[in-house]
Amino acid sequence: MTFLELKGIRKSFDGVHALKGVDFTVEEGEVHGLVGENGSGKSTLMKIIAGVYTPDEGQIRLDGRLVTDNSPFFSSVSGISVIYQDLSLFPNLTVVENIYMGKVVSDPGKFVNPNKYIQTAIDALNGLGVAINPYDLVEMLPIAKQQLIAIARALTNKTRLLILDEPTTALTRKEILQLFGILGRLKEKGISFIFISHKLDEVLEICDRVTVLRDGGLVGAEAAKNLAVGDLEAMMLGKSLTFERKTSSSAKPDEALRLERLTKKNNFADVSLTVKMGEIVGLSGLLGSGRTELALALFGIAPADSGKIFVNGRESRIESVDDAMARGIAYVPEDRLLQGLVMDHAIGDNIVLATQDDYLKKSRLIDRKAMQSMSERWIRDLGIKTDSSRKSARVLSGGNQQKVVVAKWLAMNPAILILDSPTVGIDVGAKSALYETIRESAGKGMAILMISDEMPELLSNCDRIYVMRNGRMIREFDAQKITEADLRGALEMSGSTSFRGVGV
Ligand SMILES: Nc1ncnc2c1ncn2[C@@H]1O[C@H](COP(=O)(O)OP(=O)(O)OP(=O)(O)O)[C@@H](O)[C@H]1O
Ligand SMILES: [Mg+2]
Repeated sequence: MTFLELKGIRKSFDGVHALKGVDFTVEEGEVHGLVGENGSGKSTLMKIIAGVYTPDEGQIRLDGRLVTDNSPFFSSVSGISVIYQDLSLFPNLTVVENIYMGKVVSDPGKFVNPNKYIQTAIDALNGLGVAINPYDLVEMLPIAKQQLIAIARALTNKTRLLILDEPTTALTRKEILQLFGILGRLKEKGISFIFISHKLDEVLEICDRVTVLRDGGLVGAEAAKNLAVGDLEAMMLGKSLTFERKTSSSAKPDEALRLERLTKKNNFADVSLTVKMGEIVGLSGLLGSGRTELALALFGIAPADSGKIFVNGRESRIESVDDAMARGIAYVPEDRLLQGLVMDHAIGDNIVLATQDDYLKKSRLIDRKAMQSMSERWIRDLGIKTDSSRKSARVLSGGNQQKVVVAKWLAMNPAILILDSPTVGIDVGAKSALYETIRESAGKGMAILMISDEMPELLSNCDRIYVMRNGRMIREFDAQKITEADLRGALEMSGSTSFRGVGV
């Protein structure tokens, strides 16, 4: 049975045609993938299904009946729930409060019995089979758990269709498998899913059918079993992509960064590594490996307790973000959307604002023209989809917002750049543009430490790759000499995610 059917959907935002006549159906118990480049219209289509936007043209049918009065309320009582890219949780409330919040809102006028709602919330968590303390504050939990809370919240609303907009971007492989297990069980109960992702291999792994959008138009909808990743890429981009390994290294003999036995209690211990000027060094490891904690220490957010840090050959103390910045270290965090984007500022300002001192003329006036041409160069280089650098960052699609944050840090031209999962949420075409830019920066002498889980990304861009496990450095590879299987092997040996072993 077809649960949801959209026909000829069009939607524009001040002259931008986000959707140009799209057809889309979801069957009962189907996992339906939706893919397309950043800005191709995926989130807009989901917001139409959720009743947040009204289409300019086109029809929506639910269980075959024409929807005449589309609204968030109607969509929600019809059993449609959405988990947006940013999860939309309330960080300063507890897990239970977050889950029953949706319940209270969707049962307007009913007498609120807190105990009943608390029980509903606890049942929802148990139903997912996840161990989360229901009274923890959401902001204290890792992203993977926050996401499960968003799912639990959706399920308390008799959901028939759950829309997941890039649900796995911040998850490790183990957490992704847990999520897929949960989706599989819910699917057996007849719940349908729309799964939006840029990780095309995962789309093919979990979905029954995949719809591809390109530039607001429908390219096609096909059974996943008839598709390969390359087919999806070609449909998304209108051309095939080939990823090539980086052939020449721009590494110079001078060390930009050297760590000697760097240690932070309960996080990592005895970590030694080097990054040369012009070198791109990968850092990988599963959840709990300590890799992000190491980055936080290098950027002075959570300084190390002992060990030595050398910057450009000189021993340096990094006790604060100011210390790190003063030594030319920049850090692009994993949760970029929370840190670093001023939504109401112009896209161009977001990119160059941090470097505005460079644009101060002798008269102490800012050279707006130079700033604008610089930001427009970044918009072009990274393919940020917008028709004007003066539009506010809020109107960009999620992936394009991420490109703005990465551009901002690259524009600062730091001596040492730490990138945490730089291409999460960025489409395949834009990824290769970003890699190009990262390599160019290395070519000019920037030392780059790239934290990533994506093997092809590490292998095709890095000179060397380090692997961490349980807070310790366990391997160092020459990236040119290994295969994906070698790297996967080193990572997966790291099964346990506890901090045991960091005996400090
Ligand atoms: N509220 C809005 N106002 C103006 N333009 C918008 C608005 N929402 C979306 N757009 C534009 O519509 C187009 C489609 O955006 P959408 O968010 O649907 O893309 P997406 O496929 O979800 O991309 P991503 O993979 O980056 O999340 C983009 O050009 C975007 O800038
Ligand atoms: Mg989106």
